[in-house]
Amino acid sequence: MPLLAFDHVDATYGQARILHGVTFHVDPGERVAVLGRNGVGKTTIVNTLCGVADIQAGAIVLGGERHTSPRHYLAARSGIAIVLQGRGILPNLTIEENLLLGASVDRPGRWDLGAVYDLFPILGERRQSPGLGLSGGQQQMLAIGRALMANPNLLVLDEPSEGLAPVIIDELADLFRRLADEGTAIMLIEQNIGLIQRVASRYYVLSKGTVVESGDLAGMTTQQLQDHITI
Ligand SMILES: Nc1ncnc2c1ncn2[C@@H]1O[C@H](COP(=O)(O)OP(=O)(O)OP(=O)(O)O)[C@@H](O)[C@H]1O
Ligand SMILES: [Mg+2]
Repeated sequence: MPLLAFDHVDATYGQARILHGVTFHVDPGERVAVLGRNGVGKTTIVNTLCGVADIQAGAIVLGGERHTSPRHYLAARSGIAIVLQGRGILPNLTIEENLLLGASVDRPGRWDLGAVYDLFPILGERRQSPGLGLSGGQQQMLAIGRALMANPNLLVLDEPSEGLAPVIIDELADLFRRLADEGTAIMLIEQNIGLIQRVASRYYVLSKGTVVESGDLAGMTTQQLQDHITI
């Protein structure tokens, strides 16, 4: 059974229909990429999952249950943690307080403050500092750490590489692979080809709010992937 599926979802913000019949799924332990140019509706998939955008047709399937008006807690409860585009760090809370927000869904597992500080020592060193002063890379660590605090079985990442230096993106690629090897499914919404190639095994291409293509990444050249993104 998939951890998450969209079944022919039409989604709107007010009168504006952004997603048209979007269908995809992520199985346990899978590494799935969602690609597409700016403004095609990638973040709207996340927003629909969270209940920020409205579903007009179709359904979201979480752990086998169909939902036609999802709320944020439904995804969280079924073990999905989301790293929002732009990271969503609360600047006036300390790093530790930001991390603890992720633990508000009480799911058992190996991730706790100590485990996150082992993974990202800089966060432990600065645990009492406000989120405000972190660099882009450190903010992304904090956002990922906060998501891991929920002990997710699916981690949804919305353009995690945005604004980060190549060396940091390399570290993220290694981390996402490692998390997947340990059993956490990854849904990677990205435009960075290198990151997609290093992390994902399967992909969906979104264009104008519709999935126009999907398949396996194995055997696909960088140029072919680039062409898909610019559909
Ligand atoms: N809250 C909102 N209310 C109304 N329209 C919105 C809202 N958020 C996004 N949109 C519109 O929905 C469309 C899809 O936006 P979305 O943010 O999903 O794209 P995206 O693929 O994530 O783009 P990017 O790569 O720039 O992050 C755009 O036309 C955008 O203007
Ligand atoms: Mg987006």
